[in-house]
Amino acid sequence: MPTIEVDGLRIVYEDTGGSGTPVVLVHGFPFSAAMWEPQIEALGGRFRMIAVNLRGFGGSDAPEDRAAYSMSAFARDVKAVMDDVGVDRAVLCGLSMGGYVCFQFWRDYRESVAGLILADTRAEADPPEAIEKRTGQQQQIADQGIDAIADGLTRAVLSDTTRETKPDVVKGARLLMDQPAAGYIGALEAMKNRPDSTADLTGITVPCLVIVGEDDGLTPPEMARKIHEHIGGSRLVVIPEAGHLSNLEDPQAFNGALAEFLATA
Ligand code: MLT
Repeated sequence: MPTIEVDGLRIVYEDTGGSGTPVVLVHGFPFSAAMWEPQIEALGGRFRMIAVNLRGFGGSDAPEDRAAYSMSAFARDVKAVMDDVGVDRAVLCGLSMGGYVCFQFWRDYRESVAGLILADTRAEADPPEAIEKRTGQQQQIADQGIDAIADGLTRAVLSDTTRETKPDVVKGARLLMDQPAAGYIGALEAMKNRPDSTADLTGITVPCLVIVGEDDGLTPPEMARKIHEHIGGSRLVVIPEAGHLSNLEDPQAFNGALAEFLATA
C-alpha cells in the first residue's frame, strides 16, 4: 500500500487508480480504510476510489501524543494523500468521524472539494456530557486496552436487524475495530475538541449527498435531515434497517446511492 509522510508520520492509503471521478473515502472511529472494502469492490472499476488511513488507524503511524490528533491534522492527512496521487479535486466521502473530517477539509481546502458525501454524521460539536464520556473512554482504554470499549461500540454502531440477522457483519465490524489504543485515545481527543460545523452548512455550494441508516442510534436521521436542510440542493438517502455503519450493513443500498450521486456530481 502506498505510504507518505505527514507531520513526520507515516500515512498509508489505498488507491484503485483509473480515470473515473476521484472519490476520497474517510473512515469513521475506530475504523480504517478497510471499512470501505464493499464500496471499493463494487465501484472501484467505475470511479477512482482513494481510501485514507487517518493517523492512528489502519497501519498509519499512531503517535502517543494526543496533541498530534485534531480534525485539522486529519484533514492534512487527507490533503497530503490527494497531493501524492496527483488529484486536485475530488468528491469526499466521510462516515461519522470521517464526516467531521470532511467538514474540516471543507474549511481548510474547499477548492479541492468537487462534492461531499456525508454518511451517518453530525454537524454539531460535542456537548459537555459527550466530552465527559469520551474522557472516561480514554481513561478506560489507557487502563485496560481497546477491549474495554470495542464490544459495546460494536453493539452501538449496528442496528437491531443487523445484529440479529447478519452475524458476518457483526464479526467484521468488531475486527475492523482492532486498532492501536493510541489511535483510539488520539481520535477521541480530536472529536472532543472539534468545532461546530453547523454554521458552515449553508456555505457548502458543491453537490452533496447525505446518507443515514434509518436505525442509526449514534447519529440518528434527524441529524442527517438537519444537514440536508441546511445544504442547498443536497440529497438525502435514508437506508432502511441499517444502523450507524450503513455502508457495511447494507452495501447494496449505500453503493446504489453513491453510484447515482457520482454519475451526476
Ligand atoms: C464514528 O463512527 O466515527 C463515531 O461514532 C463518531 C463519534 O463518536 O462521534
